[in-house]
Amino acid sequence: MLQLNLTPFPVLQTDRLTLRQLRHTDAPEVLSLRSDDEVMKYIGRPRAKSMEDAMQLINQINDRISNNESINWAITLKGSEKVIGIIGYVNIKKEHFRAEVGYLLDIGFHRKGIMQESLYAVIDFGFKHMMLHSIEAITDPNNDASQSLLKKNRFIQEAFFKEDFYFEEKFLDSAVFSLLVSEFYAN
Ligand SMILES: CC(C)(COP(=O)(O)OP(=O)(O)OC[C@H]1O[C@@H](n2cnc3c(N)ncnc32)[C@H](O)[C@@H]1OP(=O)(O)O)[C@@H](O)C(=O)NCCC(=O)NCCS
Repeated sequence: MLQLNLTPFPVLQTDRLTLRQLRHTDAPEVLSLRSDDEVMKYIGRPRAKSMEDAMQLINQINDRISNNESINWAITLKGSEKVIGIIGYVNIKKEHFRAEVGYLLDIGFHRKGIMQESLYAVIDFGFKHMMLHSIEAITDPNNDASQSLLKKNRFIQEAFFKEDFYFEEKFLDSAVFSLLVSEFYAN
């Protein structure tokens, strides 16, 4: 069984970014991200509607970190406190050394390689420090940006589930991608 210890919070540094823990003061940016129809287009989660919703989300994320259940990082540019995106592992199946990765980024920062940089750091941390054996990603089949990002990082589509996800009175399809530790570090 995987043993997780997420305290102290593992801050990750990349060339341009600091991936840190979310704070209450990040609520305006979290609200903006989670209420943006473009950003949330393929994410089957209720839109945040108020600062209260955003605060609740931050509390939930941080409680789960304290309980070693799951982890999300705030994506920030070095030298800035402003949160421009979120990335993390949810649905961690400790008995299988497996977790689901999820991410979203402010529209103003798309196509600058920011999520590539973030995802690489999070995958590397997941395999080297959390001791994951595999990582999965569940995408909307129409989410070309996310699927290309996953393929670029050696994820392979392993499943397509028809109408397995019920959201806002619709049954949606899912394309499931997966990455093994051996595949990520293979030459
Ligand atoms: C998916 C998402 C995180 C990509 O972030 P990003 O920082 O713009 O992506 P990057 O600039 O790092 O691009 C890395 C790779 O992703 C792919 N990609 C990113 N945006 C793309 C787009 N609009 N169309 C096609 N491929 C795209 C490309 O393969 C790209 O590599 P390349 O630049 O060599 O072509 C961003 O579009 C987003 O936040 N979308 C909304 C939230 C979401 O859908 N999350 C995923 C839920 S499963």
